[in-house]
Amino acid sequence: MNMTQKAVRQEYDKIASAYDQRWNNYTTKTLTYLQNWVDISPQATVLDIGCGTGEFESLRLREHPNQRITGVDISEQMLLIAKQKFQAYSNVSFQIGAASSLPFANDSFDVIVSASAFHFFDDPVAALAEMKRIIKPDGKVYILDWCKDYFSCRLIDLYLKIFNPAHKLCYTQKQFHDLLTSVQFEIKRAAKFKIDIIWGMMVVEIILPQ
Ligand SMILES: C[S@@+](CC[C@H](N)C(=O)[O-])C[C@H]1O[C@@H](n2cnc3c(N)ncnc32)[C@H](O)[C@@H]1O
Repeated sequence: MNMTQKAVRQEYDKIASAYDQRWNNYTTKTLTYLQNWVDISPQATVLDIGCGTGEFESLRLREHPNQRITGVDISEQMLLIAKQKFQAYSNVSFQIGAASSLPFANDSFDVIVSASAFHFFDDPVAALAEMKRIIKPDGKVYILDWCKDYFSCRLIDLYLKIFNPAHKLCYTQKQFHDLLTSVQFEIKRAAKFKIDIIWGMMVVEIILPQ
């Protein structure tokens, strides 16, 4: 595990027990948007990269209780909280792992989602290569993250770069799309939105070239 990954794990292990309460407003708004935006069949197998405390799983399972979802995260403590929430669900599981080296076989999932985690990825190209490896050929990937097109996010990015060793990089929509196409993902749909005065977000649906 490299320095950035260690810093992320340490930070999230530390805040895990307070995360749901502290970020309730943010996660509710971002993940509700994501859940309304995605087009996921209830029969699809879903992987959530950087699943944290499993809040996307909560929203998804409310509508589709039989959805098969696997969450992967680098923070053991975040995963412990996620696991506690879904003890009764045999269709939901969680595993420790880093986005740049995922513990899954090739062509494992119909859908990948990743919410508010991409800006932490120390090696975004390796993370995207892993997504390409484990998604089925006709699968879809949804990535939601902060968007540096918004002035407030530019300030946050600058602040975190100086003061937070866990922070890696916040992208403009163009930088993000260029990165995705540079690794031969095809962008199917994209959107940008603000959830409040501070947080500006972007989301994409990407697929493998057909
Ligand atoms: C802001 S939280 C978002 C959690 C959840 N997706 C949500 O929307 O509530 C970011 C999560 O990404 C995880 N994470 C960051 N970098 C990671 C990496 N390289 N591999 C796996 N997980 C990572 C963190 O541990 C943390 O749980």
